Amino acid sequence: MFELYLLIILLFITITIAISSLKIGISPMPSSKKVAMEILALAKNSTKNEIIDLGSGFGSLAIFLAINIPHKKVLAYEVSFFPYIISKVLKTILRVKNLEIYKKDFLKEDLKNSLLVCYLFPKGMQNLEDKLFDETINTEIISSTFAFRHIKFRKKIEVKDIYRTPIYFYKT
Ligand SMILES: C[S@@+](CC[C@H](N)C(=O)[O-])C[C@H]1O[C@@H](n2cnc3c(N)ncnc32)[C@H](O)[C@@H]1O
Repeated sequence: MFELYLLIILLFITITIAISSLKIGISPMPSSKKVAMEILALAKNSTKNEIIDLGSGFGSLAIFLAINIPHKKVLAYEVSFFPYIISKVLKTILRVKNLEIYKKDFLKEDLKNSLLVCYLFPKGMQNLEDKLFDETINTEIISSTFAFRHIKFRKKIEVKDIYRTPIYFYKT
C-alpha cells in the first residue's frame, strides 16, 4: 500500500512539473556537469560579489557555484513550485550557507551589480534582454545555450560535449 501512495505522489509531482514547464516555456532540466564546470570557470573570474541563478530549477547549478565559490553570495530564483522545494531541501541537507533560494519571477527582481547566470529559452532570453535594456543595471551575464538577440557577447565558449553547447558571456 505504501508503494502505491508513493507512486501516486511521484506521479502527481511529475505531472505538476510538466504542466508548469508548459506554462513557463522550459522544464527545470539541470545544466550538465561539463557546462557547469565552464560556468564555474567564468564565474570565478567575475568581478561581481553576488551571483544570481535566473531560473534555478532543482538548484544543482546554484549549489555547485555556491560550494565552489564560498566567498561569494549566490541567489537563486525559481518560479516552479516543486523544483523550488527540492532545491531548498538539497540546500538544507548540504548546509550551503552562502546560497539563498526564492520562489520568485526573476523578471520582477532587482538584478543590479551582479553576475547573472542563466539557462533559459528564446522567449525567456528576450524578456531578460528587455529588462536589461529598460534598467541601467551594470551586470555580467553568463548564458548557457541561448544568446541575446541584440546585446553583443564579449566571449563565446563551446563546451566539449556532444551538443557543443555554447556559453555566452556579456557585460551591460
Ligand atoms: C533549464 S532550467 C535551468 C536550471 C539551472 N539554472 C541549471 O542551469 O541547472 C530553467 C529554469 O528556469 C525557470 N524559469 C524560467 N523563467 C523564469 C522566471 N521568469 N523566473 C524564475 N524562474 C524561471 C524554469 O522554471 C526552469 O526551472
